[in-house]
Amino acid sequence: MSGQTKQPFAWHGALERNITLLGVFAFIAVLFGGIIEIAPLFWIDNTIEKVKGVRPYTPLEQAGRDIYIREGCYLCHSQMIRPFRDETERYGHYSLAAESMYDHPFQWGSERTGPDLARVGGKYSDAWHVQHLTAPRSVVPESIMPNYAFLAKNELKVPDIQAEIKTLSLTGVPYTKEDLAKAAADLKAQADPNADSADLIKRYPKAQARDFDGDPKKLSEMDALIAYLQVLGTMVDTESAAAQEHLAKEKGR
Ligand code: HEC
Repeated sequence: MSGQTKQPFAWHGALERNITLLGVFAFIAVLFGGIIEIAPLFWIDNTIEKVKGVRPYTPLEQAGRDIYIREGCYLCHSQMIRPFRDETERYGHYSLAAESMYDHPFQWGSERTGPDLARVGGKYSDAWHVQHLTAPRSVVPESIMPNYAFLAKNELKVPDIQAEIKTLSLTGVPYTKEDLAKAAADLKAQADPNADSADLIKRYPKAQARDFDGDPKKLSEMDALIAYLQVLGTMVDTESAAAQEHLAKEKGR
């Protein structure tokens, strides 16, 4: 329209009318934002502050974790306690980033048909877990969780635990050469009450070595799954002074 006063940002009209020019400028804007977000990650040493106690899973716990994923437990259970009072009073200390730093893939989840399992380790006895997984309604009558009785019948078969441990170490999980060499033996030893587990516990502090499924003669999928459930949330001593110190620092940031 003639005679109209000149609008501020009138030059912007050229951008809005020329799709190629708009494309070029949009690309520059996205590139700029991307560089600012991504580039620093290449220079900082780590994005997760380490917390004392966090260690890689033992081969048996890792095998249990694979069963957890295979059976789709994550479809009903999350593993991340959020820092809200209603959550921490029910489930315990909120989850720390470091607690899932060696999880591949992580199991935070977004669905809670059942309770959060991030700190279920030590909450119940092994016998309770066997009973609950075999027939959930025999311990919690109103439960809608499926029966997993077959886990006790299935012998634990892990095609190549060494390859799995090696793959995990390629993604940054700090397994040692010794852990790798002894992976197959560790897998069996942890659930064998007659095995000497001192060496295993030395390499995997606080690892619980015992028969988990109530049948010491058999290494079952139930053994592995319960070994995994019993370690969840137990690696970091959230009560200890060191953890408190770390948390205070985290808050102060
Ligand atoms: C269809 C949804 C569903 C699936 C799938 C499911 N659960 Fe559950 N789970 C529940 C519900 C609901 C509860 C609460 C009632 C109860 O204790 O049975 C529960 C409770 C639990 C509890 C007790 C938690 C607590 O703090 O009391 C554990 C442990 C558990 N489930 C483990 C598993 C495992 C391991 C799997 C996979 C093998 C699994 N669940 C699959 C729904 C599910």
